[in-house]
Amino acid sequence: MGTHSSWIEKIQSLPVLPQIAMRVTERMQSPTATLPEISDLIKSDVGLSAKVLRLANSSYYSIPGGVSEVSKALHYLGFTTIAQIVLTSSVFGSFKTQGIREFPLAPFWLHSFAVGQLAEMTARTLQLENASDAFIGGLIHDVGKLILLEIDPDHLARVVRLAREKNLSFLAAENELGDSTHVELGLELARHWKLPSTIQSAIQFHHSGKSDRSCNLIQWANLRVNFRKLGNSGNHDPALESAMNDSQARLGLGASALDALEIHFQKEFEKAGAILSGH
Ligand SMILES: [Fe+2]
Ligand SMILES: [Fe+2]
Repeated sequence: MGTHSSWIEKIQSLPVLPQIAMRVTERMQSPTATLPEISDLIKSDVGLSAKVLRLANSSYYSIPGGVSEVSKALHYLGFTTIAQIVLTSSVFGSFKTQGIREFPLAPFWLHSFAVGQLAEMTARTLQLENASDAFIGGLIHDVGKLILLEIDPDHLARVVRLAREKNLSFLAAENELGDSTHVELGLELARHWKLPSTIQSAIQFHHSGKSDRSCNLIQWANLRVNFRKLGNSGNHDPALESAMNDSQARLGLGASALDALEIHFQKEFEKAGAILSGH
C-alpha cells in the first residue's frame, strides 16, 4: 500500500500539462482570445487536428459537403468546443491509456467530460464568474483517480471493490482504507500543473462543497452526472438524490432553469463520442 509521502513524490515526477492546454486555459480567461491563434496551435498537433475534423464532420454539425481543413472546421465548432477538445485530449493524454478491470477508462472519461460540460453550461446559465474555468474544473475534479491508476493500481482496485461490496461512495471507501484520497492527490497534481486557484478549489471541494458557488457548481454537476449514470467513476453510493437536491438548492438552480439546461445539455453531450474517441 502506498504511503502519502511516496505518492506525493510520484506526482511531482508526472509530466506537466502540455503547453497547448496551458495556453488554451490562459486564453479562456481572457476576453481577447481569438480563433486564429488557437487554430495555429491545433494545426501543429496531428491528433488534435484529426479530432477537430472528426467532430466537424459528425452528424452533430451536418455541414453540407463536410470540411477537410482545420481552420474551416474551427469556424463551425467555435471557441468553447475547441477548448473542450484541447483540454480533454491534453488532460487524459497525460495518463495511461489502459484501465484495469475494476476501473475501465472509457466510462471514467465519459463521467469526467459530462461533469465538465454540465458545469460549464450551468455556470453560463447562472451567470457565474469564471464560467470558462468550470469545464476544466469539472473535467479534472476526479483526476486523483487517474493518478492512483498510474502510481498504485492495486490500491485503486481495492477502493472500487470495497465501494461495490458495501455500496459506498468512492471517497467513503478510500477513507475506510485510510490512505490519501483522490481529492488530495488531485489537488497536488493541480498544484504541480500550476492551474489557477479557482480550478484547484474545484478539485479540493468537489465533495465537501464550500460557500463559494463555483465549488458548489462542481459538486452539484458531479452529483447530477452520477445520479443520471452518465459514465462511471467507481462510485456506488445509492443515496445521491437528497445530496444532489440540497446542492442544487444551495446553487440557486430552480426547476425551470434546470429543465431548460437539461435539454441544452442533452444536445451538447452528443459531442462527447467524437471528442473522447481515441482517448
Ligand atoms: Fe470525486
Ligand atoms: Fe466524479
